[in-house]
Parts: sequence; structure tokens; C-alpha cells
Amino acid sequence: MTETVLVTGGAGYIGSHMTLSLLEAGIQVVVLDNLCNSTAESLRRIERICGKAPVFIQGDIRNNAILDNIFTEHRIDAVLHFAGLKAVGESVQKPLDYYSNNVAGSLNLYQAMARAGVFHLVFSSSATVYGEPEQMPISENAPIGTPTNPYGRSKLMVEELLKDLAHSDPRWSIALLRYFNPIGAHESGLIGEDPNGIPNNLLPYISQVSIGKLKELAVFGNDYSTRDGTGIRDYIHVVDLADGHLKALQAISTQSGIHVWNLGTGTGYSVLEMIKAFEHASGVPVPYRIAPRRPGDIAECWADPSKAARELGWQAKRGLEEMMLDTWRWQSGNPQGYME
Ligand code: NAD
Ligand code: UFG
Repeated sequence: MTETVLVTGGAGYIGSHMTLSLLEAGIQVVVLDNLCNSTAESLRRIERICGKAPVFIQGDIRNNAILDNIFTEHRIDAVLHFAGLKAVGESVQKPLDYYSNNVAGSLNLYQAMARAGVFHLVFSSSATVYGEPEQMPISENAPIGTPTNPYGRSKLMVEELLKDLAHSDPRWSIALLRYFNPIGAHESGLIGEDPNGIPNNLLPYISQVSIGKLKELAVFGNDYSTRDGTGIRDYIHVVDLADGHLKALQAISTQSGIHVWNLGTGTGYSVLEMIKAFEHASGVPVPYRIAPRRPGDIAECWADPSKAARELGWQAKRGLEEMMLDTWRWQSGNPQGYME
């Protein structure tokens, strides 16, 4: 049985929702986060929601002394590894930072796990590893593509490293979770996505336009061969995503080897459909203009989530309306994010 887990990056967007879900499920959580893209306020908010708090250690996954100390002080059963950098554009400018945090950091963590005899791992991968897929929806059998940027390559490198690791030693039990596009926030409106600076992703951008923090959304291209010409993605509620991790954690506690699961809804929405759905949920208009395509973007991407349904008994429950309402509740209640 899983009693205590280490969540790296647990103060961040997905990690904070995960930490809350774990605490609510009665699992003890140790969070390791260097706060390079988050604040410890997210962890205080988690305590406000559920009355329980994780143990928090501020530190870097590249620091061996900190890692060894955590594994000595706590009886960790499994690690959920979210820590890393995730801005695609920035990764092109600062590849060394991305390979250092995402690849060297992951390697360091796995070495510390092996030293401590902890062999259960859930890794945050991304649909970006499929590159530009030929067929929709994308199943786990689809060929691995060629990511167009260092961020995507860092995820792919860690996936390959983990496959080698699992094949080298049957004690390892690893879930590679390929996320589609996580959005939304906890229904309390107390935790959510709080990007540094100008957001790169669609939903944080839309929501900052809606509260007047940004002037208008640039829609990156309306000449794709999609139903309205704008890009189509599979947006998944972050709380559903966290539920998927709980199920994956359960699964790897009883079976070894490496397992790949897509976490998506199976439904794609276009950028224009997302704008409309957000306006409907919030009652606030979102001004936008059509802009050139963003380099590296693909036309469409949505999941075949049937493997996770079959093997984990998991499927996303929350629809677009709920994703938008929860995003709006978080953004309108916290216009400055965690900075009150
Ligand atoms: P996030 O930036 O909100 O969270 C990442 C957390 O890791 C932050 O709190 C940051 O401070 C911490 N961190 C970064 N480098 C660290 C290091 N070296 N040591 C310790 N802590 C460190 O991002 P998120 O959206 O919550 O993403 C979590 C994971 O999921 C990432 O690995 C990301 O690549 C992956 N992912 C995210 C998306 C997405 O759209 N959000 C999609 C696919 C995969
Ligand atoms: N978009 C806009 N305007 C914006 C931002 C985005 O029109 O200001 C469009 C994009 O062109 C795309 C859609 O909205 O069609 C979604 O874009 P996001 O940036 O929100 O998400 P992506 O699908 O491009 O990227 C996400 C993650 C990456 C990951 C990738 C593949 O952010 O980390 O999925 O899994 F690599």
C-alpha cells in the first residue's frame, strides 16, 4: 500500500492539484520544489482546502544531499516527478537550463531513488513526444515523433532513459503519463495556474485578457485544415489529470515494468471554440485578433484515452463548461495569482 509519496514540483500548477488529491486520499506527501516557477502559498491554500498539509522542502532535484536526506528521513513508497521547466519558447533560448533541470535533474532523482531502494515512479511526460502525428486520435502505439524544441526533446530523452532503466532491473515500476492540454483549477477557486510573466498557453492568456490584465488574444493562425481553421487540442481538467495519476500510482504499486498512458479526454476543441466557451462561462467578452501561425505548432492533437480507461479504470469526467467555470473562478478570485 502507498502511504507516503514524494512529489517533486508539488508547489506548481499540476503538482499542487496532485498534492491536494493525494492528501484527500489519505496519502502523506513530501513536496520538494525549488520555487523557481511557483510559491509556497499554493501549499498553504491546499491546507485551507483539506485541512492537511504536505511536508515542504524547498530545494532542487539536482541537489544530492537534499534528496538523500529526504529518502532517509521519510519512508517514501513512490515518487511523482513533476519538477521541471516547461516553456517551449524559452527552451529554444535557454537549452542548457532545460537539459539541466529536465534531463540531468531527472537522472539525479532516479539515481537517488535507486540508492534509497525506491523503485516506484510516475513521470510527467507530454503528448509533445508524438511530434506531428499522422492519425487522430493518438494512441500510445502511435510512433514517437520528432519534437521541434529542446523542451520536447528533454521529455523524450527522459522517456527513453526510463525505458532503459525499467529493462535493466525488474524492481522498477514506472508510469509514463503523456498529458494532453491541462487546464482549469480546483473547484474551490483557491489553487490554479499562476504563470510568471506573459502566459504562453491559451487558457491562462484568455483568462488574463478577460480580467483586463492583457489587451487581446492573438489567435495563432486560422488557416489550418481544421473545422474553423484554428488549432485543435484535447483540453483536460487538471483535477481529472490528478485522478489519473492516483490510478496510475495504484497500478504501479502491484505491477512492475514500464507503462505508458495517455491522459486526455478524447475530444478536441478549436481555439475559437475555446474563446466562445470561456465567454459563455464567464459572461465576459474576450477580444482577439487573428495572427500568424506560431512556429512549431501542429494543426490538431487529441488523445485516444481508451488504454487508460481499460487498464486504469480512469476517464476524464469534467467537460468543457466545468473547465471554463473553474478557470474563471480561480482567475477572477485571484487576479494577481498567489500574490495577494
Ligand atoms: P509548473 O511550472 O507549474 O510546475 C513545475 C514545478 O517544478 C514548479 O513549482 C517549479 O518551481 C518546480 N521546479 C522546476 N525545476 C525544479 C528543480 N530543478 N528542482 C525542484 N523544483 C523544480 O508546471 P506544471 O504545468 O505544473 O507542469 C508539471 C510537469 O508536467 C512538468 O514536468 C511539465 O513539463 C509537465 N507537463 C505540463 C504540461 C502543461 O501544459 N502544463 C503538459 C505536459 C507536461
Ligand atoms: N494559441 C493561440 N494563442 C495563444 C496561445 C495559444 O492561438 O496566445 C493556440 C495555439 O496555437 C494552439 C492552442 O492555442 O493551437 C493551444 O496552445 P497552447 O500553447 O496552450 O498548448 P500547446 O498544445 O501548443 O502546448 C502544450 C503544452 C506544451 C506541450 C504541448 C504538446 O503547453 O508543453 O502541449 O503536448 F509540449
